Amino acid sequence: MSDGIKLAPSLLSADFARLGDEVRAVAAAGADLLHFDVMDNHYVPNLTVGPLICSAIKPHCPIPIDVHLMVKPVDRLIPDFAAAGARIITFHPEASEHVHRTIGLIKSHGCLAGLALNPATPLTTLDHVLEDLDLVLVMSVNPGFGGQSFISSALPKLEAIRRRIDESGRAIMLEVDGGVKIDNAAAIGAAGADVLVAGSAVFGQPDYQSVITAIRSAAQNGQASRRATASAA
Ligand code: DX5
Ligand code: ZN
Repeated sequence: MSDGIKLAPSLLSADFARLGDEVRAVAAAGADLLHFDVMDNHYVPNLTVGPLICSAIKPHCPIPIDVHLMVKPVDRLIPDFAAAGARIITFHPEASEHVHRTIGLIKSHGCLAGLALNPATPLTTLDHVLEDLDLVLVMSVNPGFGGQSFISSALPKLEAIRRRIDESGRAIMLEVDGGVKIDNAAAIGAAGADVLVAGSAVFGQPDYQSVITAIRSAAQNGQASRRATASAA
């Protein structure tokens, strides 16, 4: 996952009356992952879907399901999402009493483990756990709703985490979530993200394939310019 850019459309902006069709459509349009936003009306002020819907869409989903848990407490739901077909499970440190234990719980159920940092969550949250993670998710909006504007302080945050990941020598995915569009994807790729979540930018469009391709190619251009700058230095 360290090479190339992955696109993860967020199901939050899909037509919920046609979820199976929507999942098949984004996969056929070239999505790499399906981002599955779980909200509980407690950790975030919105209520979405749970393991029942995850297992219902699983047979329609030929790409890995990337579950983003915005729930508190988080541990009790992890075995349920693993059984429902999640490949990656990401949680927020504020939603767990014992972050290291929750990471271990996700892995013990055979899933990849991700930690999500809200716009105001400091990078020191990654101290002592980065090496245990498979993915770091940088929130570029406050969690809870699709269709919000990208918070630009996510860019230097991505750059700082990219440096830490590269120093670790591990192939940890760096995902960004919130307000991702065609016109900011190059800057996001240049900042070091390699997994881009896009909800309203994809599901709001008539042609999923052209928007997925456009976001990926803009982010790849940004990634290439970052690498060129790094190798020239
Ligand atoms: C926000 C969710 C995001 C959201 C992204 O809490 O985690 O995944 O659906 O939607 P857009 O791309 O519309 O900002
Ligand atoms: Zn999300």
